[in-house]
Amino acid sequence: MPIDIAVVPVAGRGTRLLPLTKSQPKEMLPVGRKPVVQYVAEELADAGVHKLVFITGPGKTAIENHFDVDDELTNHLRLTGKEDLLAEVTERTDQEHFYTRQRRQLGLGHAVLCARSIVGTQPFVVALGDSLIGLHGRSNIVARMIREFTERKADAVIAFEEVEPDEVVHYGIAQPRGAVAPVFELADIVEKPAVADAPSRMAVAGRYVLSPAIFELLADTKPGKGGEIQLTDALRALVRGGGKIVGVRLAPGEHRHDVGNYERYFRAFIESALTDPQYGPAMREFVAELLAKLGGK
Ligand code: G1P
Repeated sequence: MPIDIAVVPVAGRGTRLLPLTKSQPKEMLPVGRKPVVQYVAEELADAGVHKLVFITGPGKTAIENHFDVDDELTNHLRLTGKEDLLAEVTERTDQEHFYTRQRRQLGLGHAVLCARSIVGTQPFVVALGDSLIGLHGRSNIVARMIREFTERKADAVIAFEEVEPDEVVHYGIAQPRGAVAPVFELADIVEKPAVADAPSRMAVAGRYVLSPAIFELLADTKPGKGGEIQLTDALRALVRGGGKIVGVRLAPGEHRHDVGNYERYFRAFIESALTDPQYGPAMREFVAELLAKLGGK
């Protein structure tokens, strides 16, 4: 069954990126030429997902403006002979966007639950609005996950990336049933475990395909880690109740960048600048010179 709706949570405050995010949503930070959330929307469009439900919060209207039709800008570009830039700002007409607000910051699970009456009773994708997958956000991971969801009759499919031991504490971590393969089944999942308790190093990578049954479980989920209603806890209830959860590993080269802190944001930006089709070669030269200058420090 084709899945054509995604929930894109974008309500997080971005406190680890202050002062950058004081008046601008972290999902609107530039990575090379585009804001992060545009890569996410394009990744979903490429996977055949044409309805996006953004779960917003205070200070997030820049996201709506970015995806809006801007006749004034279009006319200005036409009148000033900058037609070549039109393609860059023309909105995608093949995607419909809905916006709803998470009125209280109660966690990712609660944010997804806010989409319940819009999504209804169909399976859906969850794509975190601050996470890019693959170089320039070009990845077919969502399409692969949708295929596994249908073929394996799964109740949930989650993207995973292997992380270093000291990183497991930042992520939802899989307990695989048997060995980890490119596609594997989960026996359990735990939110942000201590490294000593982590059942593996396979970390949730910001993409999920979910059966609508998750809404009922989310409605029953009590606050967990950090006092928040965790999507991971609802998934745990799903698997413990006999539901089938399938993990899909990111392929080599399909690295995930979340821009939630400065180190990861800088990495995403640098990678994007160094691989820019127009300026990448010059940027690589510039960085090589800079590194030579900084060498030894
Ligand atoms: C959320 C999820 C976590 C997941 C992470 C990245 O955490 O709760 O399970 O691993 O996104 O996809 P957050 O980054 O919101 O703390």
